[in-house]
Amino acid sequence: MLELKSLKKAYIQGSQKIEIFENLNFHLKEGERVAIMGKSGSGKSTLLSLISGIIKADSGDIILNSVSYKDLQESELNDFRATNIGFIFQNFHLVSYLNALENVMLPAKVCNIANAKEKAIELLKSVGLSHRLDHLPSQLSGGEKQRVAIARALIHNPKIILADEPSGNLDEETGIAVMDKLFELIKQNNTTLILVTHSKDVATRCEKTYELNSGNLNKC
Ligand SMILES: Nc1ncnc2c1ncn2[C@@H]1O[C@H](COP(=O)(O)OP(=O)(O)O)[C@@H](O)[C@H]1O
Ligand SMILES: [Mg+2]
Repeated sequence: MLELKSLKKAYIQGSQKIEIFENLNFHLKEGERVAIMGKSGSGKSTLLSLISGIIKADSGDIILNSVSYKDLQESELNDFRATNIGFIFQNFHLVSYLNALENVMLPAKVCNIANAKEKAIELLKSVGLSHRLDHLPSQLSGGEKQRVAIARALIHNPKIILADEPSGNLDEETGIAVMDKLFELIKQNNTTLILVTHSKDVATRCEKTYELNSGNLNKC
């Protein structure tokens, strides 16, 4: 369901060229859950940004759900991302002036999903936050914010969830509780997951773990 073909990506920093991927090939089956580990700076976030289409590869192609990114115009790629991908970030990335319910409803609004409010309430209930619907992010703890972010990532029933160190900013106990919720919900929906993490304990929840090193993904 996801295929990365001969991906090449470099950044230019001043006069320096930083090669992140020279020839990356990778594939993932529907419903598969994989963890990606690797040193800071190895390109994990870059990899997720490429898969989400937020940044473009210098060459090569990404095929998600039989759609080749090469064939899409910028606006088509934006629509494709909004419909097919859910994101969870280390720093939650909630909209500060929207309450929990409004944050969860955002992707559903973009995709024009029917019954967005009911779905958002149901998801917030399933992550244990039905008593926090009208709270702003600033009124929520880190673990609560990440549970809102999980509900937001799932509201449009994405094909794939991309999670970038989702428990990286949480204490161990809260991180475990948040990961329990995430895995419970994605297993229910058979959602594919790519999870970037520094924690071996978190990685073992996935069927496979890869290490990103020198631009290659090696199975651990
Ligand atoms: N927009 C950018 N412009 C220039 N260099 C970047 C940019 N984004 C990331 N980098 C560089 O690319 C490398 C990989 O970054 P990143 O993908 O964030 O790694 P990781 O998530 O594994 O820590 C780092 O050396 C980083 O400084
Ligand atoms: Mg990163």
